[in-house]
Amino acid sequence: MLKNNGKKTAVCVSTAAVLCLLMLLVAVRHRGAQVRAESTGPEDTRSLPGAEGGEASAQGGGQKGFSAYFGKLSRGRRAAEKPTARSSGYAGDTAPPPAEDIRPDDLFIAVKTTKKFHQSRLNLLLDTWISRSKQQTYIFTDGEDEELKMKIGSHAINTNCSAAHSRQALSCKMAVEYDKFIELGKKWFCHVDDDNYVNVRALLKQLSQYQHTQDVYIGKPSLDRPIEATERLGDNKMKPVNFWFATGGAGFCVSRGLALKMSPWASGGHFMNTAEKIRLPDDCTVGYIIESVLGVSLIRSNLFHSHLENLQQVSRSEIHKQITLSYGMFENKSNIINLKGAFPVEEDPSRFKSVHCLVYPDTPWCPPQVAL
Ligand SMILES: *[C@@H]1O[C@H](CO)[C@@H](O)[C@H](O)[C@H]1NC(C)=O
Ligand SMILES: *[C@@H]1O[C@H](CO)[C@@H](O)[C@H](O)[C@H]1NC(C)=O
Repeated sequence: MLKNNGKKTAVCVSTAAVLCLLMLLVAVRHRGAQVRAESTGPEDTRSLPGAEGGEASAQGGGQKGFSAYFGKLSRGRRAAEKPTARSSGYAGDTAPPPAEDIRPDDLFIAVKTTKKFHQSRLNLLLDTWISRSKQQTYIFTDGEDEELKMKIGSHAINTNCSAAHSRQALSCKMAVEYDKFIELGKKWFCHVDDDNYVNVRALLKQLSQYQHTQDVYIGKPSLDRPIEATERLGDNKMKPVNFWFATGGAGFCVSRGLALKMSPWASGGHFMNTAEKIRLPDDCTVGYIIESVLGVSLIRSNLFHSHLENLQQVSRSEIHKQITLSYGMFENKSNIINLKGAFPVEEDPSRFKSVHCLVYPDTPWCPPQVAL
């Protein structure tokens, strides 16, 4: 996914350090509605909110756009201090006694993918964490795949959404995920991407700190400030809106109580309409409905991780406590967690197999020395 982030990033990267690259990717990923995105080609406009449709218009050359953006970012950082205090802050790592005993069966985990990644990404997940969580995991894709159906049956859901990586196609999938969750009656809606490892045990532990009937929206923002968007009110009227959102690439969860309140803006075709109103991708739209419309604050958790952050920074001794992990590749540099683990990097480039052996040492294919 990283490798598709556009020529501009590629130029920048060739002269800059890896850390700079990661920051840039975060910036590119969420340049937000105010900084106009330039079209980067048919694939992965996911990384550029607003790159499709009317909102997109190039703002001068790449350099100019970026420096303007970084100026905005640092102003935004200062401005963000107050809203940060307003929101519930980071969820603690030290767990208080559970507010509600929940079982794996109470979870609904939606994995968003696309047909071209069934082989390269999905099989790894099916062999690792999904193998232990088949009952609560549903895969939302955009094409028929008999092989996938044989592995996971009716839990493979063809959304019939476009396979394009457009804002509309992504919102289309999120809409189907939401409707399925409502239909199934589970207590927690969790969304992840096809490059996430989900530690379901850690997830359950985190969610048990809340009641599913409360308003809970938990995940990790990828910006250090609220996103600035423009809401279209009709009559050509516009209204600026600021809100926090949890990045979809790190995974996030919504309680049933809150999900039900989202219904007028999220159920049936409404999610697509809402996304169109602010012209932002799926995860931003979820944040918009929850924070802007319903006035509920995102609970930030450092236990969710996307490929847009430096995964080397995840503490080696705390890997088993993380709720989600990810991996990424840019040119020949990989962004992966730092884990010695059961398999060498050549055999397990994402590190997910090694993570899986850490979390489930009784897995038959894990080397015995890891199964303590
Ligand atoms: C996609 O289309 C097929 C065939 O028309 C249909 O059976 C299926 O229910 C559709 N999926 C969704 C999520 O609407
Ligand atoms: C990546 O590595 C391959 C083989 O090691 C090499 O052929 C290719 O040119 C490299 N690509 C980049 C962008 O460095």
